[in-house]
Amino acid sequence: MSLLSLRDVRFAFPGWPPTVDGADLAVEEGAFHCLVGRSGCGKTTLLKIAAGLLAPDSGRVVFHGGPRDIGFVFQSPTLLEWLTAIDNVLLPVSLHHRPTGEERARALQLLQQLGLGEQARKQPRQLSGGQQSRVALARALILQPKLLLLDEPFAALDAITREELQRDLLAMCRRQRTTVLFVTHDIAEAVYLADHVDVVESGRIAQEIPIALPDRSAATRYGPAFAGLCAQVRAALHLEALA
Ligand SMILES: Nc1ncnc2c1ncn2[C@@H]1O[C@H](COP(=O)(O)OP(=O)(O)OP(=O)(O)O)[C@@H](O)[C@H]1O
Ligand SMILES: [Mg+2]
Repeated sequence: MSLLSLRDVRFAFPGWPPTVDGADLAVEEGAFHCLVGRSGCGKTTLLKIAAGLLAPDSGRVVFHGGPRDIGFVFQSPTLLEWLTAIDNVLLPVSLHHRPTGEERARALQLLQQLGLGEQARKQPRQLSGGQQSRVALARALILQPKLLLLDEPFAALDAITREELQRDLLAMCRRQRTTVLFVTHDIAEAVYLADHVDVVESGRIAQEIPIALPDRSAATRYGPAFAGLCAQVRAALHLEALA
């Protein structure tokens, strides 16, 4: 049974041509899907439909869970400036009740797992961009969502921080058994993270490429199988000519 499925989903912003135009997607429990595609092809809109933030004009979206079972990480960290890192992480809890000691301990544990144990009492402006992204990730994970949706969360980061965060994200999702839908422009990032890469074109999933890699070690990341899969995704995106 799929945790999330989209069937022939269509959506148009009023007065504009369709942005999502017959999208089909099935995300199994525990899977990690990456959506890749050109700017403007409808990735963010698809993610918002999956999150229930936008209602499709037609088609079916089925998610086996409630609103609190979904975590969303936006492209920019969108932290609240007047709250400390740990209180930002606890925000989804604070919206319902005053966080308990246990919940605070869990928020701190998440920050520690993301290498921010020492920074918990800092405010966002006292954190680097990569650290802010980690806080946003911890905030999305605090309610232990079944489904985590991420919209180019690492796009603004340097290559080193990005690799670290990719590794941390995979570890956290494995630990919590989180199902993930991750939007990126970056083909290598998609192949590294995903077990399925979904190529989005004109508001639909044009192709789904299964990623079968033995592990995510540095040797694999720079090995021939990885390069072959990147080439396959490039071809699906019609980028062969630019190779
Ligand atoms: N509020 C809106 N009203 C009208 N058109 C919109 C609106 N929001 C987005 N669009 C259009 O819908 C299309 C898809 O937008 P979307 O944000 O989903 O693209 P994307 O694939 O996420 O692009 P990017 O990679 O640049 O983030 C674009 O052509 C965009 O101009
Ligand atoms: Mg987008």
